[in-house]
Amino acid sequence: MNMNFNSKILPDLEKKYNVTYPVLRNATYKSLVNYATDLKSPIQRWYRYKEGYSIKLMQQIFDEYNVKKSDIILDPFCGSGSTIIQAKINGFESIGFEINPFSAFLAKAKTQNYKSSDANEFIKEKVKLFKIKNGKIKNTEKPKLSTIDKLFDKGVLAYLLNLKRAIKKIKNKKVRDLFFLAWLSILEECSNYKKAGNGLKIRRTKLSTVRNYSFAESIFKNRVTEIEEDLPYVIETSNRVKNPQIYEHTSLEMNKFVKPKSVKGVIFSPPYANCFDYTEIYKVELWMGDFVKEYSDLKKLRQRGVRSHLNGYKISLDKDKNLVSELTLLVDELKQVKLWDSRIPIMVRSYFDDMFMAIDQIYKALKPGGFCCIIVSNSAYGGVIVPTDLLLTKYAKKIGFKVKELDVARFIITSSQQYKKTEKHKKYLRETIIHLVK
Ligand SMILES: C[S@@+](CC[C@H](N)C(=O)[O-])C[C@H]1O[C@@H](n2cnc3c(N)ncnc32)[C@H](O)[C@@H]1O
Repeated sequence: MNMNFNSKILPDLEKKYNVTYPVLRNATYKSLVNYATDLKSPIQRWYRYKEGYSIKLMQQIFDEYNVKKSDIILDPFCGSGSTIIQAKINGFESIGFEINPFSAFLAKAKTQNYKSSDANEFIKEKVKLFKIKNGKIKNTEKPKLSTIDKLFDKGVLAYLLNLKRAIKKIKNKKVRDLFFLAWLSILEECSNYKKAGNGLKIRRTKLSTVRNYSFAESIFKNRVTEIEEDLPYVIETSNRVKNPQIYEHTSLEMNKFVKPKSVKGVIFSPPYANCFDYTEIYKVELWMGDFVKEYSDLKKLRQRGVRSHLNGYKISLDKDKNLVSELTLLVDELKQVKLWDSRIPIMVRSYFDDMFMAIDQIYKALKPGGFCCIIVSNSAYGGVIVPTDLLLTKYAKKIGFKVKELDVARFIITSSQQYKKTEKHKKYLRETIIHLVK
């Protein structure tokens, strides 16, 4: 096999940019590209969005680029809203896009403005919700997800459905959102499944004795208490700006919503070219939370996101703009190696078509002098490295961006099979913060 791409093309491409590795500088972003750092932070602790990054990283970037009160910040893949929260805390206007309705709900509920009267109502409603017990399951209320009975113990499911019905009746929308968020946030913990790798796995140990109704009740109460504890801070940081604008819409059409040359900074972490499907990993939240009601809804949703996985969408190629010759070489090399799915080369091409489209629109939205920070991981298939950081950078430069730096935040762990095949080139298997300026 001729692995020309890893040994020749990759090093040549890397030489063109200022790539800094963790050993070469003092400050390390290592922990900040990871959501785990935020598990004690107010608001962020309400839901652990595993693919999210830390609000501390956002603050470092705001400081580095001297963002001011009158500036607008944009996150085209806002997930659970980490960028938007930190912008709001600083009093910056912000705009987010998120295609997954569950994630968009999280981002909105965490970042909208709240008043003291909302906190008072929260306490009143809490007393009522804490009295809810389990009981009988109404079949009409059970999500149509085929595995639902395996995922939850019967008593837990009955409790969760009773609780959801009561939450939906709360009149004050903001208070309702907070309880609904608390309810969504406990689903994984009180179920028999676990998010692992690219999907959901049934927990190994027999847990129905532990993950029973009283366990679910206790973790719901704990989460509600955390939210209540954070409310004074939420209220204090409210009204520094109007509610952030979060669109539940594909960011591949962001220019329909964002004025040209209006944004000071764009910060985001997109899906990676690693076959990770956000609608699969958040399947239980999507079904249980009524964000999808039929399998056809899930299918449609899958077709709307960036083409970073193989689940359920038609992969077709857009017209090849041929702006990044290395991408063509990469896809050609992927076609020659043994892969676990023959559609991977086309998926990789489609992924970059989507990401290039996003970068085009970001460029248009930015003010001259504005910045763009992209946090992205590379991947590998059949031993061929997909250098997403370098390919996105090359495209961005072609359309007019100045490349400031590629800051390697951490190295990533791949499967042992990929590890063996890529060991010689492992410095390219990494998560990078790409710094661009218009
Ligand atoms: C890495 S996550 C972002 C996490 C976020 N930075 C945070 O801290 O919570 C990428 C997000 O992009 C979303 N996404 C995928 N395709 C999209 C599209 N076409 N438009 C908008 N969002 C999309 C996914 O649903 C996912 O939530």
